[in-house]
Formats: sequence, C-alpha cells, structure tokens
Amino acid sequence: MVTPIPIKPPADLTQVIAITSGKGGVGKTTVAINLAVSLAALGRTVTLLDADLGLANVDVMLGLKPQKNLLDVLEGTCELDDILLCGPRGVQLVPAASGVGHMAELSEGERAGLLYAFSQLERRTDVMIVDTAAGITSNTLQFCDASHEVIVVVCNDPASVTDAYATIKVLNQRSGRSRFRVLVNECIDDAEAYALFSKLLQVSDRFLDVALDFAGAIPLDSNFRKALKRRAALVESHPNSRASYAFKKLAVVADKWPTPRHASGQLEFFVERMIQADMAGRDVRA
Ligand SMILES: Nc1ncnc2c1ncn2[C@@H]1O[C@H](COP(=O)(O)OP(=O)(O)OP(=O)(O)O)[C@@H](O)[C@H]1O
Ligand SMILES: [Mg+2]
Repeated sequence: MVTPIPIKPPADLTQVIAITSGKGGVGKTTVAINLAVSLAALGRTVTLLDADLGLANVDVMLGLKPQKNLLDVLEGTCELDDILLCGPRGVQLVPAASGVGHMAELSEGERAGLLYAFSQLERRTDVMIVDTAAGITSNTLQFCDASHEVIVVVCNDPASVTDAYATIKVLNQRSGRSRFRVLVNECIDDAEAYALFSKLLQVSDRFLDVALDFAGAIPLDSNFRKALKRRAALVESHPNSRASYAFKKLAVVADKWPTPRHASGQLEFFVERMIQADMAGRDVRA
C-alpha cells in the first residue's frame, strides 16, 4: 500500500535555510537536495535556490536542464514560473544565475523585478533551501546573511574544520549572526560526528561569541555514487540506506526550527537583506 504524503497547509512565513561550508566538496549540494526532498516528503512545499553562481550543479545532480534563469526574470523576458524546474517530490528548483549576486548593482527596475519574483514564490513556499558556493566569497556570505538559518557542513578533514570555523567567524563579524547549525557529513558513526562537532565547539567557545547547535550526522554512504549516476536524490533512489534515514531525521528536526515571526514578505526581505549584505560588504572592502 502506498503511504499518503501528509499535506500541511502552506505556512504564511517562509523559512530560509542556507547550506554552507567554507571548504569545497564537503557535500553542500548533496545536503541541500536531500534535505529539500525530505522536507517535501513531510508535506512541506519546498523551493531549492541554487546559489552556486559559478558552478551550478543542483540541476546537473538531478538531471534537470534549465533553459532560463533568474537573470531572464530580471531582464523581463519571462516570469518566475517559466524558470522553475520541478524536482523530486515537487521541490521547485530556482536555477543559478551568474550576475544576480551583484545585488547592489541592480537597477531600480531589476530590483523591483526580483522582489516581485520572490514575493510570488512566498505564497507557495514553506521552506527555501539555499545551496551556496564553496569558499568564503562575498556572494556566499551575502546569501547566508539573508537566510534565517545557516547550516555549516563539515567533514572529518582538518581543512574542512578550519574553513567551517573561518566561515562562522566571518559571518559573525559581518552581520552579528550568533547561532549556527553544524551538520557533520561523511562520518563513520554518530560518535565520530559528535567528536568532530565538539572540537569545533571548543575552539569557537574559546575565541568567538557564537552558539553552535549540532544539527546531525550524515554517514559516509557508497549509495550516493549510485544516486548521482541515476541523477536522483538519494532519499528517493535509496530510501532505506543509512544516509537516507539520517536525512529524514534531519528534516524532522529542521521542520521544528522556529519559523520567522515577521508578518509578511519573508522572501522579499530575503532579497532586501541580500542587497543590504552586498552593500555592507562593499563598504567594508572600500
Ligand atoms: N555522506 C556522503 N557519503 C558519500 N559520498 C558523499 C556524501 N556526501 C557527499 N558525497 C559525495 O561527495 C561529492 C561532493 O558532494 P557535493 O557536490 O554535494 O559537495 P559540495 O560541497 O556541494 O561541493 P562544491 O563545494 O563543489 O559545491 C559528490 O560526489 C557526493 O555524491
Ligand atoms: Mg555544491
């Protein structure tokens, strides 16, 4: 018998969760896709924003072929609906658009177009997952600054831990963000994951004024390679794998994270915050 998907009424407010790491290749896109699909399986309407402006690969990983992107919406040649791609479990993918990162350079008309586009998404999105690019670039910081929650992905590699620490430090200094969720990827077991988290916590407690929450652990799983070959999300292609269970657990936890309290226009605020973050970044660099 097919288990029906529980449908929750759409929330008024959209939760925006950025996935970042500092170091490249630690599993951000993998986490973004599988968390998005797992939240959709809980009955949430989910949008996945590919914010890796240089090397978009959510679409490649899911075998989707975007013809247009946000730049086309900005230029007024199409509507947001024309660029949305339908992923597994109805996850809506907004393909990456190089150039959209330079928010402060947008004309008034482009800015209004982007605000309008995101306000349209607002009404049908409970959660927006933002997959960011590797490195502590201004684009990535901007997307993190604009999100409600930031998940920092780390794996058991000294460079990953150092870069995660550096990302947390820069985000804290730039925008005063003081709470971060840490997700350990490619771990052998929960004990290894927690030990790694504790190491990061120890250093950050000593040198930074931030709170780190352990978001969970995703085990090293050879099925990811098979899922990638099939251009599928692991939680769909291998639902009974250890890693899929870990993503389902993460989705249940993330689903309970407090939703933002503002009255309306959350995704419009997301755009506004990106513009402000871009301007602040420029001031700092000037
Ligand atoms: N838990 C895991 N077990 C095994 N393989 C994994 C796991 N997580 C990710 N991978 C694999 O690691 C590779 C890199 O993952 P991914 O592209 O998601 O990293 P990324 O952080 O988004 O990289 P980039 O910084 O280039 O954007 C992929 O081949 C993916 O299938
Ligand atoms: Mg990636």
